[in-house]
This record gives sequence, C-alpha cells and structure tokens, in this order.
Amino acid sequence: MKYFIGNWKMFGIEKSFKILKKINLHIKKDFYKKSYKVMFAVPYTLISNYSKKFKNSKILIGAQNCYFKDHFSSNTGQISAFMLKDAGCSFVIIGHSDNRAEGDNENILYEKVKNAINNNLNVIFCIGENKKQKEKKQTLKVLTNQIKRVFKKDFNEKKIIIAYEPIWSIGTGKIPKTNELSNTVKKLKKTLKINYGRKKNFKILYGGSVDGTNASKFSKLTDVDGFLIGGASKSDKKFIDIIKNYYR
Ligand code: PGA
Repeated sequence: MKYFIGNWKMFGIEKSFKILKKINLHIKKDFYKKSYKVMFAVPYTLISNYSKKFKNSKILIGAQNCYFKDHFSSNTGQISAFMLKDAGCSFVIIGHSDNRAEGDNENILYEKVKNAINNNLNVIFCIGENKKQKEKKQTLKVLTNQIKRVFKKDFNEKKIIIAYEPIWSIGTGKIPKTNELSNTVKKLKKTLKINYGRKKNFKILYGGSVDGTNASKFSKLTDVDGFLIGGASKSDKKFIDIIKNYYR
C-alpha cells in the first residue's frame, strides 16, 4: 500500500473542497487498478466540514498539528487531539519542521504523539536533517535520534507513519538522489527494527518538493511507502499528476 498525503499548510477555504472533489473522482476511476491511500491535512478551519463532505469518499481528512495537552484546557488558540477526533479527523501530522522551528521539542512531540494515539488518530511523524547535518554526513544519526527521543517502545507502530522530509528539500525544488534516499530509508527501517523489535514494520514516506515531474523517479524505490506533498497538493492537476507519473 502506498500513501499520497497532501499537506495544505496555510492554504484553503471552504470552496477549495473542489480540489479534493476532483482528486476523489480520479481515485475512484483508479481504485480497482492500483492500491494506494490518499489523505489530506487541511487547516483546522476546514476539518469539520471537509470530514463530513468526504465521509464516504476515498480521501481521509486530517490535521497538521495539535496541542501537547489533551482534552480541554485554558490555552488560548490551541486545539487538542481529542478535539480533532471529535471534528472528524482520522490523522494528524506531528513534528513538521515548521513546528519544530517554532519550538516543538522532543518532550512536546512525545506528548503530542501519545495524545494522538490515545484518541485513536493516526500520526504522520515528520523527521529530517538540515543542510549542514547532511553535509557532515549525520543524516542517519539525526533521523534515528529524532525518532528514539520521541517514540516509546509501547507505541503502536501501526498508528504511526514516518515522513522523512529533509529540511533542505522542503519547498526548494531540491530532492535527494534516488540511491541516497533509498539507502537512508532502508537503513532507517533496519535501525528501527533493532530498536523497536523485528516484528514492527514502520512505514516511511518521503516528503520535500515532490511533484509530477519527479514522481516517476521514486517509482523504483520499493522501500519508500509514499509521499508527503506540500506545494503540489494545492492543485488537483499537480496532485493527480504525481499519482499518474508514479505508476507510469
Ligand atoms: P513541499 O512541502 O512539497 O512543498 O516541499 C512538503 C512538506 O513540507 O510537507
């Protein structure tokens, strides 16, 4: 099963649902031929309405973040995993580099992942090295630490999808070389088995400047379980092109 997950970031108003409607039509046509899942992380303002609109569709609706405290609390402007579930979310992105840059440290991320799982939300957990770390060949060490410091052994890995997003590739048009990406993902999967047990099969997506043009390059990488797509997820045509070219 491959995953194509859109991350709208600060994009989208009510009428933007037309984009998802067109994508849904494409998936329906494709459905019996290929096996993939499409999910969209939309802004908080759209979750409730879109979850209802796409309830019986092929698209799952989720959020881009949640607060580190659960249920209700007196924190102005914040939204908990419990509230996301109630609004109709099926998943939440946690640990995106945008949010890490704004102060999400490993203790906070641990609380967020725990709360999301407790509320029966799937977690898309983002990790990624910066340019300097890549140049110093620290990629694998950085990624392993980002996971080890947050995931406890008893976390249900079936509720978690890891999204490997090199910070230097997000929104820049730069992507890793295919052999580099394949190596990183393979080694990371191996390390996770050593740390969390042989029977645990973590899924790992790639994210960062994925578009219709480069999607076909990723087709041969069987270890990569799918993609987290930012910029290109804001257009139905570009998003559908990614799926089409990936399977070409
Ligand atoms: P991008 O964003 O596809 O625009 O590079 C990916 C992300 O930040 O999730």
